[in-house]
Amino acid sequence: MINHLFATILFLPLAYAMDKLDKTVNQDLVSRLKLAATVYDRHNILTKDEDWIYDFNSAEPTDSFKPGSVKNANAATFPAMVGHGMTIAQLKLGPCAMLPAHYHPRAANMVVAITGNTTTWMVNENAVRTVSTTLTPGKMTIFPTGSIHSMQNNGCDDAYLISALNSEDTGTMNIVNGLWSIRDDMIRAAFGNPTLDVKTTGKDIPEVGTGSTYGSDECMNRCGISKGKT
Ligand SMILES: *[C@@H]1O[C@H](CO)[C@@H](O)[C@H](O)[C@H]1NC(C)=O
Repeated sequence: MINHLFATILFLPLAYAMDKLDKTVNQDLVSRLKLAATVYDRHNILTKDEDWIYDFNSAEPTDSFKPGSVKNANAATFPAMVGHGMTIAQLKLGPCAMLPAHYHPRAANMVVAITGNTTTWMVNENAVRTVSTTLTPGKMTIFPTGSIHSMQNNGCDDAYLISALNSEDTGTMNIVNGLWSIRDDMIRAAFGNPTLDVKTTGKDIPEVGTGSTYGSDECMNRCGISKGKT
């Protein structure tokens, strides 16, 4: 009993971290596709028409506009993507939903708006200016590989966007969550503020999810939205 409890506590962080990543739906299939010598061989593995369809309408993983969600079609979630060097993501941003500042270490990211009014921010590297765009239907922007970017649906209606990334394994790093994982005294030094209360300041940082968080108070007040369960 005690041992069991101990094991649960020990492995909880790992299980928890795993839950925040795309789940590999069929490792065996991915392995066979990666080892296949030819396209012909891959066709003999992906024998059914259904093997060639990824359904963004499926309920799993989490799919909602409250506050929002990101759904990736990549080698992990859709094995037929193996070998094509791309990820396609569906972004659903409810009113005022935000994707917190993050970067993808292995992919440039093109985002096109289908509906809504979403503002984006992108910082490519030190000393370059921050690029901000407003994505209304039909408009697209570029987040270069490794650039820090963030977006918020500034409208009170849902925003639907499609994102294309040039890797099957883009990786994602949320800046604030990453920063808050280093030592408190180093964070204080980075802020140039020896009295910064790191624990208190960081206690409400939303978890790294595959979804989004609620955005600015200004938008929330304007649209009359209260924070529900994320
Ligand atoms: C989009 O929102 C911005 C404010 O964030 C506003 O200035 C602009 O007029 C809006 N565009 C449309 C087409 O609604």
